[in-house]
Amino acid sequence: MSGRIVVLISGTGSNMMALVRAADAGELAARVVAVVSDRPCPGLVAAATAGIPTEVAPPGAHSDRSQWSAALRDRVASYRPDLVVSAGFMRILAPDFVDAFYGRLVNLHPSLLPSFPGAHAVRDALGAGVKVTGTTVHLVDREVDHGPILFQEPVRIHPDDSEASLHERIKAVEHVLVVEACRALLDVREPWPTGA
Ligand code: GRF
Repeated sequence: MSGRIVVLISGTGSNMMALVRAADAGELAARVVAVVSDRPCPGLVAAATAGIPTEVAPPGAHSDRSQWSAALRDRVASYRPDLVVSAGFMRILAPDFVDAFYGRLVNLHPSLLPSFPGAHAVRDALGAGVKVTGTTVHLVDREVDHGPILFQEPVRIHPDDSEASLHERIKAVEHVLVVEACRALLDVREPWPTGA
């Protein structure tokens, strides 16, 4: 039984590609069935090159945020995902979207939540002078960077780290963790109903 994963991205898509590689290598009994972004981005190009269906769902194409969110929800649902992975998707998911996928909607965040929520988690950890940060995989609820924590891994901060160097080390950990998290979640999920 192969799980169906939709990945939401806004940028590089390195975590999305880690999932694609793991699935291709048979290390994950799943397939990335679509990659959806809110903007054109390098990750979409990488996904398309790998032969994965891609979609851009820009908020500007809709009259308001709730219309955009409903359209995004419907597009994602059309792929019948067992899991929806938000991996660097730089938009807040509205309640209707969260409710539609709750329990199989996960977010990857580059800090040890609840420390350093928000869009600048790596910069904020460096600025706070902490010696250890990390990454979190959590179920998404109606609050931002919030919801039941499923997996976490620490990453040490080096004295000479820049935001970029630290984020690269965090991402290296994320690439392993995101695969482990999806594997574990798909093990406990009921598959998407196939009946009429
Ligand atoms: C990751 O660090 C993730 O935790 C955060 O955004 C970054 C996405 O990186 N939410 P990439 O696009 O997967 O390379």
